[in-house]
Amino acid sequence: MLFVLLIHATVLLTITAQKNLTPRGQASQTGTLRVNSNAISAIQPPISNTFQNGDNIYCTHTTGYYVPNPKPAWWMFEFCFESAYITDIQIYYREGQAERMDGFKLYVTNTSTIPPDGYLCYEDGPGLPSITQTIPCNQLGKYVIYYDDKGSFHVNRDIGPIVELCYVAINGPLWASECSFVLSK
Ligand SMILES: *[C@@H]1O[C@H](CO)[C@@H](O)[C@H](O)[C@H]1NC(C)=O
Repeated sequence: MLFVLLIHATVLLTITAQKNLTPRGQASQTGTLRVNSNAISAIQPPISNTFQNGDNIYCTHTTGYYVPNPKPAWWMFEFCFESAYITDIQIYYREGQAERMDGFKLYVTNTSTIPPDGYLCYEDGPGLPSITQTIPCNQLGKYVIYYDDKGSFHVNRDIGPIVELCYVAINGPLWASECSFVLSK
């Protein structure tokens, strides 16, 4: 009997650990450059690094603040419930733009403070990052913040930090089935 229960518990944990929690909250970012490149784009399909197809844009694109007045750029996800246990975060960044992703930081926090104040899950090191990554975190929190304070160059001009996330999945066990309220931002 205990054996059966253990198997059952293991199966349940395995299944729930695979859940993407992004339907349970809302996304925001530092300004939106183009129509359809809003923060929501990162939590909607397609699951790919493709930026656009004709008029359809599939990734976020923050406003950007050019040098000499650059500002950090960020993308934030807020859970509709108090907090969630986050096992890992999958990121699909815009194809061909590893330089813009370079130096990014990924946090799980309990406040929406910028610069982020919480647990640093990952900080990109030397060399260009892979534009598709799965980052383990294993933290309890209310916000996931992708933060970039490192600029990049476009046609030899330092254009400051920009965030272009094509898809983000925030994975963890699902404790609350639905949001009890809808966040608007
Ligand atoms: C957020 O708050 C919860 C509950 O107090 C705590 O367990 C967790 O460690 C906090 N997370 C972070 C990233 O500080």
